[in-house]
Order: sequence, then C-alpha cells, then structure tokens
Amino acid sequence: MKKIICMLLAVMLLPVSACAQPVEPDLSAYDTSGKAEIPMEILGGLDQATREDLLEEPKYVALTFDDGPRADTTGRLLDGLLERGAAATFFVIGEQVPCNEDLLRRMRAEGHQIGNHTYSHVRLLKAEKDMVVEEVHKTEVLLKEAVGEGDFWLRPPYGLIGCERSKLIKTPMIYWSVDPQDWKLLDKGKVVDAVLAAVQPGDIILLHDFYSTSVDAALEIIDRLQADGYAFVTVEELFRIQGVEPQEGTLYARPDRVREVK
Ligand code: NI
Repeated sequence: MKKIICMLLAVMLLPVSACAQPVEPDLSAYDTSGKAEIPMEILGGLDQATREDLLEEPKYVALTFDDGPRADTTGRLLDGLLERGAAATFFVIGEQVPCNEDLLRRMRAEGHQIGNHTYSHVRLLKAEKDMVVEEVHKTEVLLKEAVGEGDFWLRPPYGLIGCERSKLIKTPMIYWSVDPQDWKLLDKGKVVDAVLAAVQPGDIILLHDFYSTSVDAALEIIDRLQADGYAFVTVEELFRIQGVEPQEGTLYARPDRVREVK
C-alpha cells in the first residue's frame, strides 16, 4: 500500500519538479497501515476502481518456517523480513537451539513468533507418550533459556500427532493451509509459483528456513503479495485479527479451520 501511495505521489509531483532531483514525499502525516487514510486531493484524481483498491482492507497472511534456526539461512531471512516490514512465525527444532540463541533473540526482538517443532523432529503419532511430552518440554526449556518466557505453540513434525497424543499438548497446534513442498522442489521460482497460485487471505503458508532456495522464495513471495495488498503477520496475530481464541491441543490449518487428528 505504501509503495502504491509513494508511486502516486511521485507521479503527481512530477510536473512541478520535472527538472529537480526526485524527492521522497513525506508520508509521515498519513497512516498507511491498515485502512489507509489517503488525502482527498489524491483520491479525487483517481478512477473509482483504483480508489476502491487503495481503500481495501489489507489481506492478512502468515508465513511459517520450520526446521531452523540455521545460521547461514535464517539470518539472511531475518534481514529480508526486516527490510520488508514482514512478520513471520518460526517453528524451531530444539536440537538447533544451542549456538543459535542470537537468532532466536533477534526473532523475538523483531516481532516474530517462535514456536516449538519438537526437540529431534520425531513422528509424534508413533512415539511413546512419555517421549511426546519430553520432546515438547525439552524444547520449551531451551526456548525459555534463550528468549525468556513465552507460550510456544507446537507444530508437530509432518503435521502428524493423533488424537490421543494431542491431549498431552498444552498449547494450540498449528498445521498449514498452503504447502508448496519447498523442501522437495528446492527451486525458488517453482516455490513462488506454487504459493501464489494457492494463497488466499487468512492462509498459513508452510516453508522451511533451512533451505536457501526457500529463503529466496519467501522474500519474493512477500514482495509480490505486498504489491497485491497483502500484509504479513504472525500466526498469533492472524488468530487475533480473525477474532479466534485458539484452544490448547487443537490442530489448526488456519484460524477458521481445524484439522482433524485421527
Ligand atoms: Ni519439520
């Protein structure tokens, strides 16, 4: 949205300052987030369709990254998210926490959500109940040591947990609604295309910050969708925006869609 307004202002200012160096317009007076307050003098010069497009509510979506953190890929992703003003959610593996505490602290400081992806990426569906509890708890302890208190929502590895074991989980659980299979494609362009072909407002997109191609894809997805009016929020924020109170032990594909566990 901000980009569109910048472009519009730049075009409008062009005739009066055609010979001068382009100057970035001062937009500080306007709230360009959410339902933008666009000055009437600009709206007045636009056709109806463009005007409605500019005033449209942002379309919210959550990017989620599993299997990190990984020093060489996650750091670059965080740089790209910061540049773009995009928030994301990271479901981290407990084993990956030692030596990557700085990345986790950075995630929290920069407004991202941190979640639990078990300690050693086990198949919870088949694991002994004691092991399920331990895999989740051990990661929680490591996360608390790294970033402080928090409610670390669980993404079960492979999205599998089962009815019995889900009763052992004391936080909401997050599945996904868009899965481009980035780990299999390992191709930036194909991952971008797969996400753009499927995404709808309110979706939770599954990616893995473990792969460099997925980081490249994520940044392009953000650029393309932001240009189309999308805003990137954490999973927690997506629930809040949609007015859904997430329940512990429940697996959500999106805030408005519970995934059945068998
Ligand atoms: Ni995973």
